[in-house]
Amino acid sequence: MNDRLSPQALASAGTLQKFKMFIGGEWVDSASGEYFETDNPYTGLPWGLIPRGNEEDVDLAVKAAHKALHSREWRGLTASNRGALLRALGDALGEHAPRLAEIEVRDNGKLYAEMSQQTEYLRQWYYYFGGLADKIEGAVIPIDKPDNFTYTRYEPIGVVAAIIPWNSPLFLAAWKIAPALAAGNTIVLKPSEFTSASLLEFAKVFETVGFPPGVLNVVTGFGAEVGAPLSVHPLVAKVAFTGSEATGKRIYASAANSLKKVTLELGGKSANIVFKDADVDNAVKGVISGIFAACGQTCVAGSRLVVQKSMHDEFVEKLVALAKSANLGDPMKPTTQLGPVTNRPQLAKILDYIDIAKKEGAEAVIGGKRPVEEALQNGWFVEPTIFAGVKNSMRIAQEEIFGPVLSVIPFEDEEEAIAIANDTTFGLAAGLWTTDLRRALRMPARLEVGTVWVNTYRAMSYMAPFGGYKQSGLGKESGQDMIKDYMQKKTVWMSTQEEVPNPFIIR
Ligand code: NAI
Ligand code: MG
Repeated sequence: MNDRLSPQALASAGTLQKFKMFIGGEWVDSASGEYFETDNPYTGLPWGLIPRGNEEDVDLAVKAAHKALHSREWRGLTASNRGALLRALGDALGEHAPRLAEIEVRDNGKLYAEMSQQTEYLRQWYYYFGGLADKIEGAVIPIDKPDNFTYTRYEPIGVVAAIIPWNSPLFLAAWKIAPALAAGNTIVLKPSEFTSASLLEFAKVFETVGFPPGVLNVVTGFGAEVGAPLSVHPLVAKVAFTGSEATGKRIYASAANSLKKVTLELGGKSANIVFKDADVDNAVKGVISGIFAACGQTCVAGSRLVVQKSMHDEFVEKLVALAKSANLGDPMKPTTQLGPVTNRPQLAKILDYIDIAKKEGAEAVIGGKRPVEEALQNGWFVEPTIFAGVKNSMRIAQEEIFGPVLSVIPFEDEEEAIAIANDTTFGLAAGLWTTDLRRALRMPARLEVGTVWVNTYRAMSYMAPFGGYKQSGLGKESGQDMIKDYMQKKTVWMSTQEEVPNPFIIR
């Protein structure tokens, strides 16, 4: 990430793929004319140039979205026609899925094996919310006041600012774009500065489908230069954010100024709880996938293993054996199991936490450093790392690391497992591994989290609400209900009386 483009970089610009932003249906440079480099985490080298937007671009994009919101072409569309456009977008995304996956891998380093499934699955959000667009009904209220006809209707909120992180840009953006457009809003999308390319490519696909200009705009750039002015712009009615706890809280505070609606999907410190009565081989696979899939860079990473003391040593041994077998390498290769982390600051952050863990007295039973293999020196790799001897009060058990680092915390009995799992400010998700049916039925209600997975981990669907308890967020994404988070309800009163009675009395 460069602050300003050096002359050398400008000179080499010919070899880097140059992108434009999408504002009001036009492909444009940033108002300042500046670019910044985007890197490939596997090579450690820049591969593209992204327009460096600022407040001016934000203002143009928000005004374009606001104009589209009130345009006949968009406002005048029936809900069924909006739905049809979203389904057409789903079809178009399906056609481009492999190419979009490749761009995602180039920019964020996640495995092609995973990204290709994700881009293939993406279209379902557009189908699902496209289908919902014309099924949102108000009500006629059997009102207690005679001579009145009273009904409710759902309306869009307005211009939605969607602020997206780098871990799964297309996927996490779909969770916002699909319901927001189904509800009749317009959008200004701000990708992460580390991974802007895939959402710009998405906009190219979007453009082919026939939405009116300005319905979706993409402004690229840094958090302070694009994200901050976007989340306080007076014409933005709602901010939908996914990312870090710190930035989420900042946005919540600044949006209060003009009482914008806000939804936040923030981080987690999710516990994967394994009981002695679990199917051990399945639990080992579940815990490994919970923390090492996507290199631990998911909000739902099962970053705390809370394991019953009587099986601790045996279980950790099996975990280490499986972690040891993981293939680190080129994320495009089908045989690779762990790719690099997405960006340089993230690599530094993970290595910092590994140091902190060691200083706190935890023991790395595997990993705890960067790999030494020659072929992995350019990329931002970290070895899969497991810390034993962790107390839940340690920083590595309380703070989100967002990397392939697992903390193992033993417990005696169910009550202690629940207490440890809940002893965090976060509340995103938890995993539960047990074959005891009564325990499996009893425990989910006691866990202070938005999602509980029993004998599985990380399952997600467009149909299933997702979102955090406590400081993991505000509001839900996916599922039927949440489209109403992108709408506001209006009540209309109509008098059926011929004559207005005594005007000096309120009734
Ligand atoms: P971040 O929360 O700062 O960035 C997310 C998005 O917010 C990006 O588009 C960024 O440009 C934008 N942003 C940054 N500052 C802003 C501001 N003041 N106003 C409005 N928008 C702003 O996350 P970052 O720095 O990329 O990653 C840091 C940590 O965040 C990670 O180490 C991880 O712990 C956590 N994270 C959590 C994610 C999740 O899915 N819950 C996703 C990515 C990161
Ligand atoms: Mg990148």
